[in-house]
Amino acid sequence: MSSERRTFAIISHPDAGKTTLTEKLLLQGGAIHLAGEVKARGQARRARSDWMKIEQQRGISVTSSVMTFERGGITFNLLDTPGHEDFSEDTYRTLTAVDSAVMVIDAAKGIEPQTRKLFEVCRMRSVPIITFVNKVDREGRPGFDLLDEVADALALDVVPMSWPVGMGGLFEGVLDFATGAVSRPEGGSREFLGKVDENPEIPGEFAEEMELAQAGYPEFDVEAYRGGDMTPVYFGSALKNFGVVELIDALTRFAPPPRPQPADGGEIQPGRDEVSGFIFKVQANMDPQHRDRIAFMRLVSGTFKRGMKLTPSGLGKPIAVHSPIMFFAQDREIADSAEPGDIIGIPNHGTLRVGDSLSEKNDIRFTGLPNFAPEILRRVVLKDPTKTKQLRKALDDLSEEGVIQVFYPEIGAQWIVGVVGQLQLDVLVSRLEAEYKVEAMLEPAPFDTARWLKGPDKSLDEFENFNKGNLARDRDGDLVFMARSAWDVGYQQEKNPDLTFSATKER
Ligand code: G4P
Repeated sequence: MSSERRTFAIISHPDAGKTTLTEKLLLQGGAIHLAGEVKARGQARRARSDWMKIEQQRGISVTSSVMTFERGGITFNLLDTPGHEDFSEDTYRTLTAVDSAVMVIDAAKGIEPQTRKLFEVCRMRSVPIITFVNKVDREGRPGFDLLDEVADALALDVVPMSWPVGMGGLFEGVLDFATGAVSRPEGGSREFLGKVDENPEIPGEFAEEMELAQAGYPEFDVEAYRGGDMTPVYFGSALKNFGVVELIDALTRFAPPPRPQPADGGEIQPGRDEVSGFIFKVQANMDPQHRDRIAFMRLVSGTFKRGMKLTPSGLGKPIAVHSPIMFFAQDREIADSAEPGDIIGIPNHGTLRVGDSLSEKNDIRFTGLPNFAPEILRRVVLKDPTKTKQLRKALDDLSEEGVIQVFYPEIGAQWIVGVVGQLQLDVLVSRLEAEYKVEAMLEPAPFDTARWLKGPDKSLDEFENFNKGNLARDRDGDLVFMARSAWDVGYQQEKNPDLTFSATKER
């Protein structure tokens, strides 16, 4: 039943505690074998994935892209949003496949740059957010400060749902406002091991603070939360296990079950019989010898059955999904069926692209999977000019995967790649070499940013005639204005009021 699904992501700045919290959530959900392994990176992660047969056969690692756990009759699908190391559009796009998010902030640091960026994406899609203020076992900023910061920086109504009884050396537990009980630290590790004080005595200085916290904010309103206007705030410590169960309870009680998804011609309801979904991520082979990929599909409607035929919008003819990869609490297996909100991994040879819609009747086109204006643009220069064809193929492939965006200028032969994070450039160069045997250099481009153009044909043609030198086509052939500066964008926008210069493009 899709009403028993919660599909969510954790958004945070590196080091705020996402990995630790993920482990604790999985532990609570009984996926114990994963605890302590989530953090495994690089070689260890690859070695571990060996137990998955399909991964062995195809050499693809899908480990930890989707983690599923169960508690209280609810199935939770937690989608991983890679941190700064692999920061890319991938991260953003994953947020299009969730129904809600948990925002983790470090009690000593508050809102940090990446939290804010990810938050903006959630806001664009009205994804509701539960806030978890982590590390209250350490010295942090006063609770009121943090609440004010969330409210001001993100323009959200905040409602504290719990409160730390002291922080750092004075930390004596977390008070749950709903029950009035305090979870207490125990033993030398000062962890929460289940000791709950139903009638706590709270030292005077903290008692006053808590009264203020309860009185000074609006009542929690689940509709305001689901509309993306209000965030309930939980204080806790992932490391010491405080607030984790409360967080799962909040996801269970407040977080929305699978939501309808925007599509051409209206929203697609999860209750619709026809099976449909969209691809939000494509992961290529870890082994450059193989060209296989896993496309991650978020199921939007219908009950998916193994072997079912679905038609990808980009292909036009049906494919039979014989070996979908499913993600279960205890293990990942080849699945027999899946419900709206679930994620399915579909092995393919590059036929499925990020943004593709899949449906039984090929009659559904989901909208709102954004491309983001790249923040870094580079010219690609071949060391061996005879490899143009290979380069074009590689750039097309990698842009399909969402690793980069590619822009083909209307004048001149030098292709331009755009990324949102520096690391993607390194990934690009090494994958060009390893997988496509293309040696390339990246040089500064004379442009600073790109904007997708929309408007009446006549105005577009006119603009094109005057600005050929600053125009390019993206992978889909859509017109893009390559701007020398943000000022340039503003100037052109003013001169061409009929046209929109968009920083995002929805497929
Ligand atoms: P991330 O995935 O968001 O990047 O953060 P991660 O969970 O890796 O946590 C970053 C650091 O913060 C880790 O310490 C982790 O142990 C610590 N941490 C996470 N939650 C809490 C908490 O509730 N309280 C305290 N005091 N610390 C917390 P590290 O020393 O960088 O890594 P490690 O060597 O301990 O693994």
